[in-house]
Amino acid sequence: MTDIASQTMPLCNSADLAEGGRAVPFDVVYAGQTCRAFAIRFEGQPQAYLNRCTHVAMEMDFQPDQFFDGSGRWLLCATHGAAYAPDTGECAGGPCRGGLVKINLSEANGVVHWHTAYNLKPFEFLD
Ligand code: FES
Repeated sequence: MTDIASQTMPLCNSADLAEGGRAVPFDVVYAGQTCRAFAIRFEGQPQAYLNRCTHVAMEMDFQPDQFFDGSGRWLLCATHGAAYAPDTGECAGGPCRGGLVKINLSEANGVVHWHTAYNLKPFEFLD
């Protein structure tokens, strides 16, 4: 679906996202609320999600910016162990109720951008 109002916002340098490594946090306004979000790299592709577990609406990282489990295969919620697929955000196990809210990214010339959507706005748009 094309969103004619979509904008691209600079997020980080490509080199900041190591495969299976620490996330890069950023803030968004989702459905009118300021939310934390994070970007990771998995199987070479940058991915980003709201940092909000679908079990209880809590941030998921136990150590700041660490979401991958020890295998680098899953994104884990530190609170009760919900597991999410890093490439889609879908629930892969544990008490999650549905998948993470995905944020579209693009990567070009060594820079990663995130894309706004009708319910997803840049933080600085708030007064
Ligand atoms: S809050 Fe994430 S698993 Fe319960």
